[in-house]
Amino acid sequence: MARVICILNQKGGVGKTTTTLNLGAALAHRGKRVLLIDLDPQANLTIGLGLRAKDLSESVYELLTDPNSDALKMTVPTKWERLDMVRSHIDLSGAEIEMFTMIGRETRLDRSLNNARAKYDYILIDCLPSLSMLTVNAMVAASEVLVPLQAHPFALEGLGKLFEVVQMINEGINKKLQVTGVLVTMYDGRTNVSKETLETLRRDPRLNTQIFTTTVKQNIRVAESQKDGVPVIHFDPSCHAARAYMALCEELIEMENGTIASECAERITAREEASGKKERTFTTDLVANPERLTKKISDLHGAIVPLTSDAHASPVSALLGTVEPGSAPNSPASETLHPSHPEEDKADDTNPSVI
Ligand SMILES: Nc1ncnc2c1ncn2[C@@H]1O[C@H](COP(=O)(O)OP(=O)(O)OP(=O)(O)O)[C@@H](O)[C@H]1O
Ligand SMILES: [Mg+2]
Repeated sequence: MARVICILNQKGGVGKTTTTLNLGAALAHRGKRVLLIDLDPQANLTIGLGLRAKDLSESVYELLTDPNSDALKMTVPTKWERLDMVRSHIDLSGAEIEMFTMIGRETRLDRSLNNARAKYDYILIDCLPSLSMLTVNAMVAASEVLVPLQAHPFALEGLGKLFEVVQMINEGINKKLQVTGVLVTMYDGRTNVSKETLETLRRDPRLNTQIFTTTVKQNIRVAESQKDGVPVIHFDPSCHAARAYMALCEELIEMENGTIASECAERITAREEASGKKERTFTTDLVANPERLTKKISDLHGAIVPLTSDAHASPVSALLGTVEPGSAPNSPASETLHPSHPEEDKADDTNPSVI
């Protein structure tokens, strides 16, 4: 049965599409059967894989508007083994308006995935930068939310709102839904602002168990690979971004054992050390704070924290501590936040320390 993960952050330009594409490619490379769903009318994921939908009938639009649709019938293979996708189309933006009058509009995507769940190991949904009916469909279909987050103070602003919406969906229509992890992207270790933002996140008791150890740094290879329509792990397997997405893939697979996000890398490293593996998954340049990685390894006694335990759920609840059930806005769908593209602070990504 597939793990269905939506890659979600209502903030624009934080690395959602890049993460969906490269994490999906990494999982497929690792032997998992992967379906990518492009739910964004910008169709960046579709184009990023060198594909196009001729018209809406070939796109995810069908899954959202036809109550009898089956995602399996809409999938197309990519050039890479085990990696399929459902394409988007620029006219998808009209689907949202059409959906307003439809019965069961929140569950359209979920129902269309019934057959696909049995065929794939992972279904990753690339969301658009807003909390809208399309993203509600993604959250109803998924059991996990992966949040890419740029290491920038503005990036933290919308985080509470995002967790609040996840909580509302969890309390209402989809009890399975939880935040599975926060991925820091476009990190620039040479700037204090990046370092301080990451430290703030890691220190925050409401979030720290949910932050993946892998940190994706700014890397020019990402844009170059997207220009060629090739996942970065195939474009340049040795570059930082490729290794980071392979490491994130290992963290995600480690979660299949019930491990929480912040513990995955430590467990993988401890296992690799014990087996004498020379090439480690986690090298210091993939981790923004390497001390973290080593400090707990000796404390690991093999106790697995279940994914659904309170230990995992509590940071979300704590973050939402001030929100009483029912005090939230009437419908998450009514809350459409406008995307804001964080100002690019992409200093010198040709610096060898970040490549
Ligand atoms: N690690 C990275 N290093 C350098 N550039 C990156 C990195 N990750 C993403 N980018 C670039 O940042 C831009 C935004 O990334 P991406 O499209 O993945 O964000 P998004 O959250 O999907 O955006 P949107 O909200 O518009 O859908 C793209 O131009 C992408 O090439
Ligand atoms: Mg995108």
